Amino acid sequence: MKLAKNLEGKIREVYERVRYMLATSGETVISQVSLRQFFSGNRDVDLLLSDVSYVDPFYGLHYRGLSLEQVLQQLPKPQGSVFPYAGGLYSLLLTGEMPGEEEALEVEDLWKDRAAIPQHVINVLKAMPAETHPMTMFSQAILALQTQSQFTRDYSNGLSKEDYWKITLEDSLDLTAKAPGLAATIYNIKYGDGTLREIDSHLDWSANFAHLIYKDWDQHYQDLCRLFFVLHADQGTGNVSAHTACLVNSALSDVYYSCSAAMNGLAGPLHGRANQDCLQWLLGIMENFDGSLPTMSQLEQYVWDTLERGKVIPGYGHAVLRCTDPRFAAQLEFGKQYMADDQLFNLVEMVYQVVPDILKKQGKAKGIWPNVDAISGTLQYHCGVKEFDFYTVLFGVGRMLGITVNLVWNRALALPLERPQSITLQMVQDRLHDTLNISGLRSDSYL
Ligand SMILES: CC(C)(COP(=O)(O)OP(=O)(O)OC[C@H]1O[C@@H](n2cnc3c(N)ncnc32)[C@H](O)[C@@H]1OP(=O)(O)O)[C@@H](O)C(=O)NCCC(=O)NCCS
Repeated sequence: MKLAKNLEGKIREVYERVRYMLATSGETVISQVSLRQFFSGNRDVDLLLSDVSYVDPFYGLHYRGLSLEQVLQQLPKPQGSVFPYAGGLYSLLLTGEMPGEEEALEVEDLWKDRAAIPQHVINVLKAMPAETHPMTMFSQAILALQTQSQFTRDYSNGLSKEDYWKITLEDSLDLTAKAPGLAATIYNIKYGDGTLREIDSHLDWSANFAHLIYKDWDQHYQDLCRLFFVLHADQGTGNVSAHTACLVNSALSDVYYSCSAAMNGLAGPLHGRANQDCLQWLLGIMENFDGSLPTMSQLEQYVWDTLERGKVIPGYGHAVLRCTDPRFAAQLEFGKQYMADDQLFNLVEMVYQVVPDILKKQGKAKGIWPNVDAISGTLQYHCGVKEFDFYTVLFGVGRMLGITVNLVWNRALALPLERPQSITLQMVQDRLHDTLNISGLRSDSYL
């Protein structure tokens, strides 16, 4: 595999760089945590390493140092499409080099060879109760695939440490190859009559999802899939899903265990489920105004009502971003081009005009701008994928691209078991020296 050979040289260079830094400056403090950060989910504490992507608070997501705009522009594209091959993105994320068509197609071909879904996974999905949430099905399907893990098999047979990353790459390619098929299997079982299709070898990985859910006739939807999966691929490793995967994998649990766990985190409403919730909220607005668009002032009142009921505005705010998410902006462009007259899309544009100001006035949220989830469901809905509890699965398909690349690199750099220390409240108090004297907290009561 050319990809692995190319990667090997890069890994050696980065590995040496890390060892050199550790040998020369191992005790240098590079990050600190305040009491506030300690009690706020470690926001903005530099704790994790990933060269794969970085989220700049004011410029948003960068893949391997490139803005999304550059990535979308420079990645190779299938003939007749202005949206890139996911295989090219995978090569970029892994190696840090912008791939040519040959490199993109190498990954696409590796995926085609590995795309078949084993029958036992289909049986597991078919056995689940009809009311099961698609994210539960997705997580279970990935776990059921764990029987195929080459890492777990080879580890039991004495796999050497230097080869961990190579076998993690094999598992990563195997799992990502199957991701669109797993999602489509869930879709067809849950919303259709359960009839499943083989992949179309003429189509790329992203467009194959459209084919597998019987929407291959729709060029726009194929393009939306290409855009959607590239936009959702990675977002640093501090977010809940990626961090979960890295944590689980640090115990040398394989890619399947790690990604299944990641999907359980993605399923939460403060993370990936926000796309489902956002569409539901938008449809609620339309319903409230008898299927028509509200006026601006009616919309403002609706937003305030939502906040006053103690709810968040789904798709707005972010733990890191302090600007409009470029993933939102890229989808907004898509919408302007392909569905400018769609009422729901027009509502997304109106919401974008009113919500940031209202959140600013309310004064609670640190991030007031739209994130990726503020629009992704609307584009899917327009293209006929109306089952909105399914949208987080699509997020997960894309997200596994970045997660699995990070897992390969974590094993390549021999990052150890993650094990931060937890301390008692009394210990926290003691570290504040004598500045606090909280009655009722005795030093022996928490030990
Ligand atoms: C993404 C999110 C979880 C970030 O959380 P965070 O880093 O804790 O955000 P903040 O520090 O800005 O939160 C401070 C306060 O503002 C509130 N807030 C943040 N975003 C808000 C929003 N979109 N609508 C209303 N209130 C919001 C928080 O709930 C919190 O309130 P609290 O003090 O009563 O608990 C949060 O912005 C959110 O819930 N957004 C809506 C869900 C969403 O879109 N998730 C997808 C993220 S990609």
